[in-house]
Amino acid sequence: MIELVDLTVTFGGVTALDNVSAVFTKPVNGIIGPNGAGKTTTMNVISGFLKCSGHIRYNDEEIGRLPAYKRTRWGLRRSFQREQIADDLSILDNLKVILDVTPGGRAQKAADAEQALEATGLAPRAHTMAGELNTFERRLVDVARCLVGKPKIVMFDEPGGGLSREEAARLGDLILKVPEITGATTLVIDHDVDLISRICAETLVLDFGKRIAFGETAAVLGDPKVKAAYLGVEEVDS
Ligand SMILES: Nc1ncnc2c1ncn2[C@@H]1O[C@H](COP(=O)(O)OP(=O)(O)O)[C@@H](O)[C@H]1O
Ligand SMILES: [Mg+2]
Repeated sequence: MIELVDLTVTFGGVTALDNVSAVFTKPVNGIIGPNGAGKTTTMNVISGFLKCSGHIRYNDEEIGRLPAYKRTRWGLRRSFQREQIADDLSILDNLKVILDVTPGGRAQKAADAEQALEATGLAPRAHTMAGELNTFERRLVDVARCLVGKPKIVMFDEPGGGLSREEAARLGDLILKVPEITGATTLVIDHDVDLISRICAETLVLDFGKRIAFGETAAVLGDPKVKAAYLGVEEVDS
């Protein structure tokens, strides 16, 4: 369970998040909203990259005050809108970057990496340099990095961006497995409403930094306020 309580973030005169609260109780949950709504800011706050007022709790444990560098060890993983993988490292070594800072013994970490490579289909290419991979394969490495080191919260920021529909669908299937493989509560940001409605049980909708809807995904997507916020946006971004 991830509990966001009264999150507020301001940049100069801009209120990027305005008193946002939501309790995500399902294995895979969504965050949607038009461009500039505050979705990435929400992830940055959960990651500890941005200071905010309010609380962030995971199963009643307050993590909102942990420094960002401690949150990886604690169990936080995320993908970025542009993948943050190292081109001059192999796929396996990109996973070791995470495993180096997370708890556990050598054998357990090796098994963990193997499981992540198997789950993402990257095992045969474990020693390929990341710089040789295409966009979809890079995205798979991003997912594999989120699977290792016993994560508790895994977040994906627009995982389907720049992918074909078929690739986005395959990535969606993989994201659905993240909680099964790791036990982590998973949050997905995307403009692709089809993807969100297929894989996310509960969804938070933001607009201009405010929560405009939250709850079971189908109900939220049918909400007239949500439809109004999306008018004209969906064609541009999906
Ligand atoms: N580092 C920053 N400095 C100033 N303004 C920012 C910064 N990051 C985001 N913002 C502003 O905060 C608002 C929310 O941005 P963001 O969370 O990136 O939106 P989304 O991911 O939903 O498209 C936007 O108005 C954006 O311009
Ligand atoms: Mg964003």
